[in-house]
Amino acid sequence: MPAIEALRIRKILDSRGDATVEVDVRAGDIVARAAAPSGASRGVHEVVAWPAGGVDEGIARFRTEIAPRLKGVDAEAQEHVDRILHDLDGTPDFARIGGNVAVATSLAVAKVAAAAARKPLFAHLGGGRTFPFPLGNVIGGGRHAIGGTDIQEFLCLAQHPSPSKSVFANAKVHKAVVATLRKRLPQDPIGKGDEGAWVAKLSNEDALAVLADACRGVSREAGFPILPALDLAASEFYRDGKYVYRERSLTPDRQVEFVAGLVESYGLALLEDPLDQEDFAGYARLTELVGDTCLVVGDDLFATNPARLEEGISKGAANAILIKPNQIGTLTDTRTTVGLAQKAGYRTVMSHRSGETTDETIAHLAVAFGSYAIKTGAVGGERIAKLNELIRIEEYLGG
Ligand code: PGA
Ligand code: ZN
Repeated sequence: MPAIEALRIRKILDSRGDATVEVDVRAGDIVARAAAPSGASRGVHEVVAWPAGGVDEGIARFRTEIAPRLKGVDAEAQEHVDRILHDLDGTPDFARIGGNVAVATSLAVAKVAAAAARKPLFAHLGGGRTFPFPLGNVIGGGRHAIGGTDIQEFLCLAQHPSPSKSVFANAKVHKAVVATLRKRLPQDPIGKGDEGAWVAKLSNEDALAVLADACRGVSREAGFPILPALDLAASEFYRDGKYVYRERSLTPDRQVEFVAGLVESYGLALLEDPLDQEDFAGYARLTELVGDTCLVVGDDLFATNPARLEEGISKGAANAILIKPNQIGTLTDTRTTVGLAQKAGYRTVMSHRSGETTDETIAHLAVAFGSYAIKTGAVGGERIAKLNELIRIEEYLGG
């Protein structure tokens, strides 16, 4: 029983230049660390990221309430630790201590327990039979890139069971896309969004065509499937009952037809947040239409929340769930949601946030939970922190 002896919190930078926190937990002579990411297109059903007074108030609460209370607690007793976090907070959505303070604490405790048991985190959590396919963001817009497409993310899913093959394939698609964009738009500057995806003056369908073409080319060369995918983050452009695109607006019924048409025309492997976060019925209709060939993934729809997921399962809404630990605040809550998904046959996609740190923990969680995919960008320091950790895990397992 490794007891928690000391806890520390500090304010650090995230990849957008905003403040976030990392937590160190010491048990004996072992110290482990975890940091919280932050979202830009946050769902309304997520826990509250920071208390009303912001990051500093979260840090103050950690120092005066959380650290003293967790001292002496068994680091192995994850559920007990996470219960304490909820009890100290006392709200249904971590509004008082902040979900980001909670998640950094919860994950740091899990990591110190794993290190004390001399195991990597994924193994300590009981996983390691399969690897997730990397889902890499290649072209972007929405909240992550002003002036880009109104669809937030154009992604590629490299389907090789070995991360050391698949993550390089996604990076190749990322390179192939910019080569095409430079040819097509020789006068235009081409930038990168928050997650390292290319930002260019393109219509949604042009972007998808360029992506699908790059996926086909790299796939042919690599000899395994690399398929296009989208995260529409549709709640971000749903206004007064319509999906408002730059060039037109669609009713919910027309939106379902539009995205089902994209799945058909471009062979999309995965669709994330194709509809507004309250439209369970629309999700059910769309899943009925395309669910045989395409993963319909709820991100804002479920917000990693077990009650939201249960509602979705009972209504046949989506067939997969995005898992972002800081949407729900603790490892235990995250595991509950993952367990529910697995029981219902929903696939899980472990995910970064658009604002990230070099913390690599989600690579371990994806392997621990047997996630179908891990969405964590294609390139960029805070993104490759996770991708390279996957490669290390593969090596550790003798892959
Ligand atoms: P985020 O969203 O900006 O809130 O991290 C990314 C996503 O929609 O998956
Ligand atoms: Zn999303």
